[in-house]
Amino acid sequence: MNVCLLRISLRVFRTTLAAATQAAIQVKPRSFATMPPKRKAPTSAKGEAEALETKKQKLECSYKKKDGNADDPLREPHPFSAEAEENGVVLRKFYPHEMSNARALAYNNNELPRPIEVLVDAMEGTAGVRKKIGVKDAVVHWFKMDLRTRDNRALWMASQKAREAGVPLVCMYIVSPQDFEAHLRAPIRIDFMLRTLHVLKQDLAKLGIPLYAETVERRRQVPARIIELLEEWGAGHLFANMEYEVDELRREAKLVRMCAESGIAMEVVHDTCVVPPGALTTGTGKQYSLLDLFDPPEPNSESAREKVAALFDYEIPEAPETKRLSEKDATRFRALYPAGEHEAMDRLEKFAEEKIGSYHAKRNFPAQHGTSNISVHLAAGTLSARTAVRYARDRNKTKKLNEGIEGIKVWISEVAWRDFYKHVLVHWPYVCMNKPFKPEYSNITWSYNAEHFEAWRAGRTGYPIVDAAMRQVQHMGWMHNRLRMVVASFLCKDLLLDWRMGERFFMENLVDGDFASNSGGWGFSASVGVDPQPYFRVFNPILQSEKFDPDGAFIRKYLPELRDVPGKAIHDPYGRGAGALAKKAGYPRMIVEHKASRQKAIDMYKEGIKRDTA
Ligand SMILES: Cc1cc2nc3c(=O)[nH]c(=O)nc-3n(C[C@H](O)[C@H](O)[C@H](O)COP(=O)(O)OP(=O)(O)OC[C@H]3O[C@@H](n4cnc5c(N)ncnc54)[C@H](O)[C@@H]3O)c2cc1C
Ligand SMILES: *[C@@H]1O[C@H](CO)[C@@H](O)[C@H](O)[C@H]1NC(C)=O
Ligand SMILES: *[C@@H]1O[C@H](CO)[C@@H](O)[C@H](O)[C@H]1NC(C)=O
Ligand SMILES: *[C@@H]1O[C@H](CO)[C@@H](O)[C@H](O)[C@H]1NC(C)=O
Repeated sequence: MNVCLLRISLRVFRTTLAAATQAAIQVKPRSFATMPPKRKAPTSAKGEAEALETKKQKLECSYKKKDGNADDPLREPHPFSAEAEENGVVLRKFYPHEMSNARALAYNNNELPRPIEVLVDAMEGTAGVRKKIGVKDAVVHWFKMDLRTRDNRALWMASQKAREAGVPLVCMYIVSPQDFEAHLRAPIRIDFMLRTLHVLKQDLAKLGIPLYAETVERRRQVPARIIELLEEWGAGHLFANMEYEVDELRREAKLVRMCAESGIAMEVVHDTCVVPPGALTTGTGKQYSLLDLFDPPEPNSESAREKVAALFDYEIPEAPETKRLSEKDATRFRALYPAGEHEAMDRLEKFAEEKIGSYHAKRNFPAQHGTSNISVHLAAGTLSARTAVRYARDRNKTKKLNEGIEGIKVWISEVAWRDFYKHVLVHWPYVCMNKPFKPEYSNITWSYNAEHFEAWRAGRTGYPIVDAAMRQVQHMGWMHNRLRMVVASFLCKDLLLDWRMGERFFMENLVDGDFASNSGGWGFSASVGVDPQPYFRVFNPILQSEKFDPDGAFIRKYLPELRDVPGKAIHDPYGRGAGALAKKAGYPRMIVEHKASRQKAIDMYKEGIKRDTA
């Protein structure tokens, strides 16, 4: 598929989503529509068999060969991969070299199976076997990024299955330190997740449902260990919600097949998006409209509880050594982010009552606290996007909200961006493998200046708005959306650094770090993503500062050393007559000059893109 077609399909897609959000607000959930499948269906049964065969061969090939290999040109690394890798862009401990642009395009041309298709194949290929498997002694739900009892599709399905057969429902969570490492999971986020597990365990125990959790040191061992546990518990059914990142889709595809071979039926279902990506039908029987919520699981019966009594005694594991918070950070973060789904609902209710009505007017101003702060919960799954959208939509009914409709609409459309970026991930999976959405943009020669990166990271660039934002993320593991755009643009268009270094830093530090939204946000700001800011549009950090933090309240909060800088000088102390004050406070001068950097950036992009088409 060429870029032009891509654009058209994206436009269609976004219209669909926009229509979906409108529909949501107009209380017509049924008009939500999914994106049509991109892949053309083979025309004959023979064609289908052949397509499946080549797909399998390619798949085996891609599993076997981890490194650049002469007999598969698509396995050649990208010519510029070495320097990026030296700077931590690709974790070579877990992954192959950065792929060539040709390989990325092979996904777009349907020459390589997308991971979601591999999972769909596994589901379809085992459908017959799975259907015949009877319920044995228990039904299991595997929690992942869905840490709640309320409105959780797979959990609800597991509960139904257990109830019908009169057997206990058992819940499980696997802590995988290597996945944390490979996925750059922030310690603050792991801490939030583990605290949530404690809440979940208590809530489930009240329903007589055990939550079993353990640490599996090597991530490749996770599937086999899960099967072992199910066999130990005599369970014939395993339910899980789908995660759309590449490693997870591939792992689940493998697990579905391994389970089927062991006489276990695994069901992987859509849950995290309001509009499910792809065109997967998982054979769940009844069709639900997109904003129907799922009931919490039913309690285990008295006799069922007794059967699994031993499973209530396991402790929730601790964070792996390398991902632990310092005592000081832990205390601060725990106060900022109380864990669990009850807190999520409280936050949502508070936002919907007090703030949603003025969201559209305040959302861009960091000092006005006009946003919901709900991202931590959507990322951990302590809140479902369905519940969030539905709750907001229903606010429209309250007479209290006079001016609120615009705020509700805009907020729901922001939540839809989260869906949108997950759809992008599913359809263009190489964005999950350190490639830009627009592969031709990987021929740009980024800088890897370590001093510049360090100044950015530490909030010492001499641009107060950038530095205040970077201190905010250090202080609370969260950054306001406007500022995420400002610091991302600064990293790649003022410092000319590889955007993927910034993307990685965000993942390693955000409490709401979400692969799809983060990569999507960086792609937008670095002009390498889906429908991005064009590369020649470069944010001027000082103008951004004046516009979105006009009186400097935000800057003064996070840069206390500049608190006494008067008036508009706060945006540029050295340039506006407050140099002596700034110097005395130890605040640095600007490390680059914006006007010159801007020109360099534009030239750099131009040169890189030209190189690709030459
Ligand atoms: C460079 C960059 C990196 C980002 N990284 C992440 C990330 O790792 N995780 C993450 O959840 N969001 C990310 N975002 C999107 C956005 O900044 C956050 O979702 C938002 O700041 C969270 O605060 P809130 O919950 O108060 O948002 P609200 O404004 O109240 O929005 C409600 C919800 O809508 C969704 N949402 C809002 N804006 C966006 C957006 N632009 N893209 C995707 N979803 C959106 C989020 O789930 C958010 O919680 C990133 C944006 C940029 C520009
Ligand atoms: C919200 O509700 C009001 C009154 O019921 C209605 O007039 C309005 O059209 C609704 N707005 C949206 C966007 O659905
Ligand atoms: C979000 O957090 C900020 C503190 O950083 C707070 O001022 C604001 O009121 C919170 N908003 C909501 C809706 O909870
Ligand atoms: C990128 O640049 C390299 C080195 O200049 C060149 O060999 C290659 O053809 C360019 N294009 C792609 C798609 O990699």
